[in-house]
Amino acid sequence: EIPALPLNNGNRIPQLGLGVFQVDNAEDTKNAVKWALAAGYRHIDTAAYYGNEQWVGEAIRESGLKREDVFVTSKLWNNERGYDQTKAAFQATLDKLGFEYLDMFLIHWPAPGYEESWRAMEDLYKAGKIKNIGVSNFQQHQLEHLMEKATVKPVVDQIETHPYFQQKELHAYLETQGILHEAWSPLGGGRNNALHDAVINEIAAAHDVSAAQVILRWHVQREEIVIPKSTHEARIAENRDIFAFGLDEDEMHQISDLDAGKRVGPNPDDDAWLKQSQTYAGRK
Ligand code: A2P
Repeated sequence: EIPALPLNNGNRIPQLGLGVFQVDNAEDTKNAVKWALAAGYRHIDTAAYYGNEQWVGEAIRESGLKREDVFVTSKLWNNERGYDQTKAAFQATLDKLGFEYLDMFLIHWPAPGYEESWRAMEDLYKAGKIKNIGVSNFQQHQLEHLMEKATVKPVVDQIETHPYFQQKELHAYLETQGILHEAWSPLGGGRNNALHDAVINEIAAAHDVSAAQVILRWHVQREEIVIPKSTHEARIAENRDIFAFGLDEDEMHQISDLDAGKRVGPNPDDDAWLKQSQTYAGRK
């Protein structure tokens, strides 16, 4: 029921996944993952920084699904740079998840030293330990710099994207490169977000769906991968039901016009923040 999109290496990725950013305890993490898998999700997005990889792995094992039936993404935190350190950090992620391989591993932010990390990830990819490698929060110039020396092209760029921060230019660039646009905080992160927007709610009423479903559907029709986070069973199910209705061109345009250039997260061009983030160890 949930479609899969082709990646530039011939593999596929389920277009909808469950995000678990800021889910910081075992019970909530395991429940959310189990509810999502029971509702038909086959894609979970975690990160070393979130500190919940262990519980994600446990929930997947306890679901009774086969390992190969679930697409799992994790991310390399900003303090892990250099070839050997990146390999060790990847192994730590794998051990926490309790897996033999990972479906996708991303460089979480373009913090200094990412070139060496990419080299390590390419080797892990070639060795079959990671099925797909990509980046997160990279701007065009950072991707161009990475790809100058890369031997493997990133399959995705996971970036903040929602109706008030649409990333139109980067979206168009990624399209020219065959790199899929993956949206984090697709609903706008729960604060200052478009769930309360009048235009969104009018479209939702016309389709007899929720504002969240309209927003997620808009992402899907832009050919993005979406990873909405929720720890509520009913919302997890609601967020899955976005493939049985469609927005027309006029509705897509109305949402396109809501772009306000308003980030909820850090700016990947903020070099001071990137450097500072390398002192955060992430949750253990
Ligand atoms: P909760 O986890 O309490 O359900 P994003 O992924 O864009 O960052 O959005 C996550 C935020 O949106 C969380 O605060 C989450 O809250 C909330 N959320 C997720 N799905 C829905 C939904 N279907 N309706 C309303 N709020 C939602």
